[in-house]
Amino acid sequence: MNEIPIIDLKKQYESIQDELDEALKRVFSKGIYILGDQVDALEKEFAKYCNASHAVGVASGTDALTLSLLSCDVKAGDEVIAPSHTAVATIAAIEMTGAKPVLVDIDIERYTLDPNQVEKAITEKTRAIIPVHLYGCSADLTSILQVARQKNIFVIEDCAQAHGAKFQGQRAGTGGDMAAFSFYPTKNLGAFGDGGMVITNNSSLAEKCKRLRQYGWKNRYISEVKGMNSRLDELHAAMLRVKLKYLDAWNQLRRDLANLYIELLQNTEIILPMQPNDCEHVFHQFVIRHPKRDALKDFLYQKGIHTLIHYPVPVHLQPAYKNLGYAKGSLPNTEKVADEVLSLPMYPELTEEQVKFVCECIVGF
Ligand SMILES: Cc1ncc(COP(=O)(O)O)c(C=O)c1O
Repeated sequence: MNEIPIIDLKKQYESIQDELDEALKRVFSKGIYILGDQVDALEKEFAKYCNASHAVGVASGTDALTLSLLSCDVKAGDEVIAPSHTAVATIAAIEMTGAKPVLVDIDIERYTLDPNQVEKAITEKTRAIIPVHLYGCSADLTSILQVARQKNIFVIEDCAQAHGAKFQGQRAGTGGDMAAFSFYPTKNLGAFGDGGMVITNNSSLAEKCKRLRQYGWKNRYISEVKGMNSRLDELHAAMLRVKLKYLDAWNQLRRDLANLYIELLQNTEIILPMQPNDCEHVFHQFVIRHPKRDALKDFLYQKGIHTLIHYPVPVHLQPAYKNLGYAKGSLPNTEKVADEVLSLPMYPELTEEQVKFVCECIVGF
């Protein structure tokens, strides 16, 4: 068997090359590259796909989070609750606003925010909560939304890994006040460079976000508020519009491959990902756990199977975030998971034979 990469973006491009090339040509022949009709159309199509009222195209997932927080007036002196078991970007976005990240532990089976820990962490200063729908599985939002409503706290969903996922039948990103998506190339819906999107059902938050992404302009050259430059490019928007049409089919292929992995690894000592009843998982990553994770990773690498660790060091133990003051041992589920998780190859173009080979090797280990 040839090497099995963790993801193969070339294969995806080749599968829809003609459509993508046509989309690019249309942008080039029009000659408009920033905030034109492609971004406008993608915003409408993505909002419709998510069943949200508004979508705002921005330059990255990190910016989508930062702009959402700023739209909710999160600022220095405020606290924002988030998991430590996430991409560092989630926490970087909080720090960009000047607010203090308050990191809490995860549910050990779902790998997302533990609602009980969230409730315990709320103080007078809590302004927002960021549930991260990690690996493509929605966080359990029911009680988080309930307590947030009671206490006037914003809920901003980090959907960077959850395009098309559902929680209780609704698309991820529509339960809270705002949601942030990343179009980083490896995401379930990925651009050919950086990109992101904010969605919301609140028209005044959407309006604020639109101003903030472009120098605080309401009308050209007149800054009503202090903003930044975080725009989505027309070229990316044009290609994302092509890819959006395939998202559901690609997510279904991911689920089928995940179910095959689960079937073939059923009677091993591997801890398999759960698919909670209230969630339609989109398997951005297929993540297993094993107490000898590093040895398993090396073993698979020797067989030509590439894997990754999402994430080896939780944010609260990262050198850059020492200032937050968390000691080792303070978030036990998060730390255990960081020592044991391993992401196996997962992308819609992965074949059943490749999955079978990966599983045979794991069983051999
Ligand atoms: C959970 C999560 N949040 C935020 C981000 C940030 O997205 P971007 O890389 O587009 O800034 C990522 C991307 O890696 C992510 O996985």
